Amino acid sequence: MLSAMFFSLLCSVLWPTLAVTIDMEGLPDTGLDTSSWTTGVLPPLDDIWDLNDMQIAAKNVLSKKFYASYRTAALNEYTYQANLGIYSKVRLNGFAFTDTSNIQTSTTILGFNFSQPFFIAPAAKAGHANKSAEASLASAAGKAGILYVPSISSTLSIEKIAKAGQAGQVMFHQEYVWSNRSRLTDELDRIEAAGFKAIFLTVDNTGINGVRTRSMRFTEGSDTGHATNFDLPALAALRNMTSLPIVPKGIKTWQDARTCLALGFPAIYVSNHGGRVLDGAPTAAEVLLDIRRHAPEVFAGMEVYADGGVRRGTDALILLALGARAVGLGRPPMFANIWGEAGVSRMISLFATELATSMRLMGVADVHQLNASHVNTNQIVL
Ligand SMILES: Cc1cc2nc3c(=O)[nH]c(=O)nc-3n(C[C@H](O)[C@H](O)[C@H](O)COP(=O)(O)O)c2cc1C
Repeated sequence: MLSAMFFSLLCSVLWPTLAVTIDMEGLPDTGLDTSSWTTGVLPPLDDIWDLNDMQIAAKNVLSKKFYASYRTAALNEYTYQANLGIYSKVRLNGFAFTDTSNIQTSTTILGFNFSQPFFIAPAAKAGHANKSAEASLASAAGKAGILYVPSISSTLSIEKIAKAGQAGQVMFHQEYVWSNRSRLTDELDRIEAAGFKAIFLTVDNTGINGVRTRSMRFTEGSDTGHATNFDLPALAALRNMTSLPIVPKGIKTWQDARTCLALGFPAIYVSNHGGRVLDGAPTAAEVLLDIRRHAPEVFAGMEVYADGGVRRGTDALILLALGARAVGLGRPPMFANIWGEAGVSRMISLFATELATSMRLMGVADVHQLNASHVNTNQIVL
């Protein structure tokens, strides 16, 4: 009796210091209970019910330095916050009187078949979250039938990531425009030889990264090695350096979208890189609306991919309804990778469930039916 009383007294004294309190960074409160978690220890995957939970779990387990490297964004992080917030300004129109007994999410991206209209976007250094690094992203994507596009700044080599995929898995690869031309040629050749089917070419890192204060507190700023003189003639020259299709990533204006269409690119990727480059850059939803208004021919003439702040199935549906063919997830897969492949697979499955459920609630049986009639964007003033 006395020992039980002593134990409960001990618990009540110790508990407040043991319970984990994590700053949720203003993410939607959906009742995540972290009181049984231990700082620095991987929480059970069963506690995780959405992509925001995964971010909080990563914050709990990763070192401050590595969490900052994923979470960071440029300057005041206005664009980072706008990416997350823009979707709350869009209303979804759900139509009655439709047959939604058979939901179809499969689509093609550059002509290749995938089970979902969302993909794992290029993000550097997956090894900061898990020793399997990009291998778990590749295999989870392959098993789910979704597209993975590794970053050229990955932890693993181009060849190792290619080998980590499933038999017959289609992956694309991201590339930067390095000022060192032989590095660029070498990497483009290796990407092609390793079996990647297309290049996402990041075109707007004009020699410099954004000033990312959050991560600079932990690391020295370094020279990116990106070319500062990447103009249209340089783009034309680069297109002759590979036979793979090139998709310019980092399109942020309707004018650049129209230029890419005129230059005959098969696709563009609307992205502000998760707010990590130019703070103040518009969100993908705003850019898509701008393209619709000023250069609608872009959507008929090429595929358009988009990303930034996509955390819910409904966020993806908004971008798809505004004309995107496929939607990228940047940080969520990196955070999910703290559990390795199991975490990434759970992330894909949770997101796919949100997407399919919301489609059904909107009366949309096939992702290809999504169009501007499904969204009310009156709250977004352009
Ligand atoms: C940790 C991290 C590393 C990234 N590395 C790259 C990269 O190497 N190349 C690139 O084009 N974009 C990179 N991005 C940007 C992503 O491809 C993507 O555009 C962005 O993360 C989407 O926003 P989200 O994180 O809100 O989903 C990176 C993003 C993060 C979070």
